[in-house]
Amino acid sequence: MGNRGLIQMSDVHKAYRMGRTRIHALAGVDLELESGEMVAIMGPSGAGKSTMLNIVGCLDRPTSGEYWLENEAVARMGNDQLARIRGRKIGFVFQTFSLLPRTNALHNAMLPLLYTGTRGRRKLAEKALERVGMADRMDHKPNELSAGEQQRVAVARALVTEPAILLADEPTGNLDSKTGAEIMRLFWDLNQEGVTVVLVTHDDEIGECARRIVRMRDGRIVDDGPAPHIYPMADQVAEPDGGSEVAGETADSGSASPRSNASSTGEKSSCS
Ligand SMILES: Nc1ncnc2c1ncn2[C@@H]1O[C@H](COP(=O)(O)OP(=O)(O)O)[C@@H](O)[C@H]1O
Ligand SMILES: [Mg+2]
Repeated sequence: MGNRGLIQMSDVHKAYRMGRTRIHALAGVDLELESGEMVAIMGPSGAGKSTMLNIVGCLDRPTSGEYWLENEAVARMGNDQLARIRGRKIGFVFQTFSLLPRTNALHNAMLPLLYTGTRGRRKLAEKALERVGMADRMDHKPNELSAGEQQRVAVARALVTEPAILLADEPTGNLDSKTGAEIMRLFWDLNQEGVTVVLVTHDDEIGECARRIVRMRDGRIVDDGPAPHIYPMADQVAEPDGGSEVAGETADSGSASPRSNASSTGEKSSCS
């Protein structure tokens, strides 16, 4: 089998039946994605973004078409097989954080490892929480954390299995713009460390914090290319209020990115 990159989708369709009508949520999507990319899927409400992300994340199957994830054909796998692939390869972050309310950050971050039966769970969860700047909040429950901190814990939970790809559906949708920018900065830093990130947003300012933007409309990809800005702009990076190593760390570097050759001259991103 040839090398198809991390993800290859070919002519993917997804139809939902609603009574007598058929809704074509995806109407022939082709997508290729390499390991190490940071992609924002953008478009208006109803464009098919979540449907797309759910198929990428093996939460759902195409009605027709092909999908290879790390050279495995997943389009027609059964539920058990899909669940296994998800557990091994996918980390999910949701708009609503979806943390267990009575459980502290450490145990929330550990949760996916219970399903995979991995050993050394506590150490791995601690490491994941350190990566997202939550080392000093591990024993806090969600209601003792700010919204941004809760989302960081959710990112740690998604990372704890070291997935091939980190997926996020509107990860800043429940955050104010400053906190949203800090979460985008976290995704950016994780991507710099090699984590592949695909996020869905309808917010231009958030999407422009990615490296590549895939625009959807009516179940189709209508545009696909590099983001207009290279994030983070050195003078635009938000300083966290305190405690968070990850978000503040590399704010000094003018050489923000190895690919910082794009049109970062006059125009300013609002990524902070
Ligand atoms: N489970 C479902 N059953 C029926 N229709 C659905 C379902 N999920 C999504 N749709 C429809 O598919 C289209 C795309 O939805 P979605 O992928 O959620 O769009 P987006 O995330 O871009 O807002 C919409 O018309 C939506 O109403
Ligand atoms: Mg959606």
